Amino acid sequence: QVVRTAAELREASARLLTGKEGRSQALVPTMGALHEGHARLARTAVEQNDVVVASIFVNPLQFGDAVDLDRYPRTLEADIALLEAQGVDLVFAPSVEDVYPDGEPLVRITAGSLGEKWEGASRPGHFDGALTVVAKLLHYGAPAAGLPSAGAFVSGSTAGLPAYRAYFGQKDAQQVALVRRMVADLNFPVDIVTVPTVRADDGLALSSRNRFLSDQEREAALVLSRALRLLEERANAQEPLDLDSAQAMVASQPLVELDYFDVVDPRTLEPLAENCRKVPFRGEGLALIAAKVGPVRLIDNVPLSS
Ligand code: PAJ
Repeated sequence: QVVRTAAELREASARLLTGKEGRSQALVPTMGALHEGHARLARTAVEQNDVVVASIFVNPLQFGDAVDLDRYPRTLEADIALLEAQGVDLVFAPSVEDVYPDGEPLVRITAGSLGEKWEGASRPGHFDGALTVVAKLLHYGAPAAGLPSAGAFVSGSTAGLPAYRAYFGQKDAQQVALVRRMVADLNFPVDIVTVPTVRADDGLALSSRNRFLSDQEREAALVLSRALRLLEERANAQEPLDLDSAQAMVASQPLVELDYFDVVDPRTLEPLAENCRKVPFRGEGLALIAAKVGPVRLIDNVPLSS
């Protein structure tokens, strides 16, 4: 079922949740142009919850320029079919006017310093816009059935209240780190679930932007996931990470214009001490990479653990 307004969503999800065992509701936020990465998010949510809502909303607040926003692929009919095939119960596809009835919101979420580094450095305001809409979407998608008073924003697995979970992809590592931070800092009653990055057979992380790569550019883009895999293998073997060799590997590919490539703390996204390059890797890390390949900016990452 496709619903367009918050009221329709509340009514439909409450009806679906009524009488369900265990009772949990999930939200899978997307901007459409869906691929197997989104499908995995939706499937995971369906496996783990009674009622699953997927949202499709191209959020103007998180785009730097209007051209980029206009160019964002819109494939609503195919998206709905894909979500239905994964077993999603409700597709919430609101209009811009419904989400932002007074135009741009006056009061917003700010991502703070964590939103200014890495992706934030080349996309000013992007994470403020993304977190602001995620905050709104988390409210829209909250379970309404069985609450003490209709419309109250309460969740959790205690006292017979429905659990509430929201699903995000590891692909956008900075986004999910920020969403987790927002939920913790502002006490959102929702559990954030991270789903591993889905890749094509050749290793390229799936992205709605991959469609803009020529065959030659796509081949060149494989160096990103290869370089990350090199670091992952080093970490798994508890060897020094040798970031220099991995960076040299990317630099040797002329079609790839590297923006950043570093190993960071998975929570703060601060670079790990230099010595992880020289001494055997122990603990938790996150290798982050971003590069321009032809007209397309690509990001990828791999969690490191040993
Ligand atoms: P969008 O780019 O449509 O992505 C929706 C969700 O799919 C995100 O959580 C993203 O991390 C996940 N995803 C994308 N590619 C993936 C892949 N290859 N493997 C696993 N997960 C993948 O991210 C957004 O939309 C927006 O910023 C949003 C959160 C909806 C707010 O507007």
